[in-house]
Amino acid sequence: MAELIRRQGGEALVAASMREVPLGENREAFAFGEKLMQGRIDAAAFLTGVGALALFQILETRYARGELLAAFSKIQTVARGPKALAALRKIGLTSARGAAEPATGREVLAALDQAPLQGKTVALQEYGAPNKELVEALVQRGARVIRVPVYRWALPENTEPLRRALETVIGGRADVVLFTNSNQIHHVLQFAQEEGLEKEFREALTRTVIASVGPVCSQFLDEYGVPVDLEPELPKMGNLVEEASRKGAAILERKRSALKPLVAPAAALRAAVPERGAALLSDSPFLKACRLEKTAFTPIWLMRQAGRYMKEYRQMRERHSFLDLCKDSDLACEVSVYAVERLGVDAAIIFSDILLILEPMGLELEYAQGEGPLIGNPLRTPADIDALRTLDEPDALAFVYDAIGKTRRALPPATPLIGFAGAPFTLASYMIEGQGSRNFIHTKSVMYRHPQSWRDLMNKIARGVAVYLNAQIAAGAQAVQLFDSWVGCLSPEDYAQYVLPYTRRLIQAVTPGVPVIHFGTQTGTLLELMRDAGGSVIGLDWRVALDEAWKRLGPVAVQGNLDPAALFAEPAEIRRQAKKILDQAAGRPGHIFNLGHGVLPQTPVGHVKALVDAVHELSASR
Ligand code: CP3
Repeated sequence: MAELIRRQGGEALVAASMREVPLGENREAFAFGEKLMQGRIDAAAFLTGVGALALFQILETRYARGELLAAFSKIQTVARGPKALAALRKIGLTSARGAAEPATGREVLAALDQAPLQGKTVALQEYGAPNKELVEALVQRGARVIRVPVYRWALPENTEPLRRALETVIGGRADVVLFTNSNQIHHVLQFAQEEGLEKEFREALTRTVIASVGPVCSQFLDEYGVPVDLEPELPKMGNLVEEASRKGAAILERKRSALKPLVAPAAALRAAVPERGAALLSDSPFLKACRLEKTAFTPIWLMRQAGRYMKEYRQMRERHSFLDLCKDSDLACEVSVYAVERLGVDAAIIFSDILLILEPMGLELEYAQGEGPLIGNPLRTPADIDALRTLDEPDALAFVYDAIGKTRRALPPATPLIGFAGAPFTLASYMIEGQGSRNFIHTKSVMYRHPQSWRDLMNKIARGVAVYLNAQIAAGAQAVQLFDSWVGCLSPEDYAQYVLPYTRRLIQAVTPGVPVIHFGTQTGTLLELMRDAGGSVIGLDWRVALDEAWKRLGPVAVQGNLDPAALFAEPAEIRRQAKKILDQAAGRPGHIFNLGHGVLPQTPVGHVKALVDAVHELSASR
């Protein structure tokens, strides 16, 4: 299979999900068969179609089908649902009766109750998890219950490759899942369930192409609630791979775009800019670079370009608290536009903060003097996370959209405006720690000790942030940046498992066509995974060399990556360091100059301006 996949240009991840158990090893099934033949069974209930077929297959290694059918026809037989009933009919057992809908254990019991059960021997064909309630109810009626677990296949001895495959699918890093045998789905789901991953895995499958080798395999997948996307005309491995290669991309596109319930409705997306303005903006160096197009010079803007390092900002802060600045759209507009005018940068960023979304989600936010943000009621227990609200109504942050509208109108028509939000991990870390953190002990405790709560939390945040960003876009932002400032504290494995699926889902939900800048710090070991999570631009900090990082990332735009502390050097040295970064970018389209993190409060404004000028000058003369 791996070779076939490679030949079609794919990357193969092969994981065995089953090991054959010799039919002769199924002792419970044979013990049942013996009793049946001796007339010591009074009733039998078949709980699944798959199991009924398998049981007959096993018994038929010892008895002729005719013998078996004759024995079964003498006892009461009940099929739990239509699939079990169809299986029995197919085998030839016409006397079986189907339980009523909704075909749970209760209806099976009701069907068996047609005759008194006191002192009778009832066999239950089981496949997968035993039905404890049904067994107990039968025992209460005085019946003797024989459980007949049927299996022909067991999990492989080494389940490590299978676990890796599941995580790859859950992490959104698999495009196609091929099933080459009808039993695989049962095993894969059973294993996923044992690992506590079933919900995520099923959810991930809705965003992955499901390919089945043939009709029987498809029927099984269907029975397990995994709808098949493609099946070759002839049930052969080669055809399966070929078909998947031919149709996969289109199906994937459809499935993934169908999963965008988070996108703001089209009507809300009427851009806040007139058409002529839209063209000017679209041709701006910043947006061109986002699209990997050539520009006349390297565009530059700076994270935290509006802030405490500016005297004018500090004066404003003497009269207004930081939260007041954020919530007053006139003031926010003024701060943001002033920074663009003062520095001559190629993009504006809305004046706001990543933590403002915490308030409408139910958290108490405050910015203590000189201490940074503090959350009064951090999330520490699964119950706290359950109680967290989602941001389904983006209007709670209407002041942000007002500020975006005002800023858009106040800016030069060709200067793009960047909206932003915190990424799920970084927001989760503030929600849980209650403040900035060095080791993220509380955050990681929730992640490792309450993985289901962690997933719920990340889903709530991802959903809320997607709604929030789309509302910012509708209000007039031309691009959005996702700040995952603290994600660098995670190992690549933890990132892949605990962060990537949610960030990916979020980015996929952003209004199509709007560039997403995906930024984090200390992400040297995570860059490829961050790229896989998405974003048309990947933000780099200064701990990686821009050229090496870009080579690893491949064809996406990059943003960065001067050390913010370099701005404390003399302008000549700043210019030298800027040149080094521009040389590393080597004129390749798709570089947006920025710092590796925000401007530090003590930075001399003149030095910031010197950097902007140097980047413009040096890159234009290339
Ligand atoms: O000019 C811009 O870049 C836009 C404004 C902006 C702010 N915060 C304003 C702000 C942006 C993009 C942010 C993002 C933000 N906020 C991040 C991600 C970027 C990063 O730095 O990693 C994070 C982690 C926060 C959370 C936050 N807000 C912290 C940790 C702090 C306190 C520390 C600090 O740098 O001041 C804030 C407060 C904050 N956000 C200020 C500003 C201008 C300072 C508030 C003040 O005037 O005292």
